[in-house]
Amino acid sequence: MAEPYIIRISSQKGGVGKTTVAVNLGSVLSLFGYKTLIVDTDAANPTVGFHLGMNQANVGYKEVITGKSTLNEALAIHGATGLRVLPGTIGPYSFIPAERDNLKFMEMLTTTKYDFIILDTSPGFVFSEPIRFYSEALLITTPEASACTSCMRLARNYTEEKLKHNLVVNRVTNRKYEFSIEEIEDMYENKAIGILPEDNTVPTSIAEHIPAFLVNPKSGFSRAIRETARRYVSKSEILRIAPEAGKGGILGLVRKVIGIS
Ligand SMILES: Nc1ncnc2c1ncn2[C@@H]1O[C@H](COP(=O)(O)OP(=O)(O)OP(=O)(O)O)[C@@H](O)[C@H]1O
Ligand SMILES: [Mg+2]
Repeated sequence: MAEPYIIRISSQKGGVGKTTVAVNLGSVLSLFGYKTLIVDTDAANPTVGFHLGMNQANVGYKEVITGKSTLNEALAIHGATGLRVLPGTIGPYSFIPAERDNLKFMEMLTTTKYDFIILDTSPGFVFSEPIRFYSEALLITTPEASACTSCMRLARNYTEEKLKHNLVVNRVTNRKYEFSIEEIEDMYENKAIGILPEDNTVPTSIAEHIPAFLVNPKSGFSRAIRETARRYVSKSEILRIAPEAGKGGILGLVRKVIGIS
């Protein structure tokens, strides 16, 4: 049994769309038929549960990492997508996990049966992080200059740490005052695996607590995030894993939503 593919969603600058990408990428991978877990490691500002319309949790990431709860006790299921969620809990103080607890937690995650584990994070890069457990960092930036330059610094850090990384450019409007995709890819010295447009479906979906992909699977953002998710899997694999997703009824609908019809 292969170990889970662990994706650390990363940005140096806050508010660029990490949680939006984490929730929607996780939802699409789950709808593709992959066992997917999203972990809200943003202890200062946990918002994954909010994006998914889940009640405020009493136990979550903090309690599991400190050994007060097990992963199974703290796990929630997002009914519409099947996505498994380890939510964050809001406490009276900010929380930074001890290095030893973090290592133990990541080690535990590698023994689970998930195909994908997506770690939503707070902005920035911590040198004591258990990088060797990550399969890759997925860097999120907007095309705005300050987000891009800090993102490229973060990419350099990951390269130095020998961690594989990929890039998603979010909130693209193609206006004159933002960097073009070509300029960003030149800076990154690689192609982006996702170019996600500025799209009203996103704030609407957050207000409705439903992943944007389910609010409108045909919106520009939804199509683009589906293409990004496809970069992690192949179409034949999707059909192998979810072969029943073509027999009409609700599964036919799922097939349509994830675009494998
Ligand atoms: N493609 C998009 N189109 C329109 N609005 C977007 C898009 N992506 C994100 N947003 C908006 O940007 C805001 C910030 O998004 P999000 O919370 O995902 O960022 P974040 O990087 O997780 O922030 P933080 O660093 O605080 O955790 C949200 O309110 C959302 O509505
Ligand atoms: Mg966030």
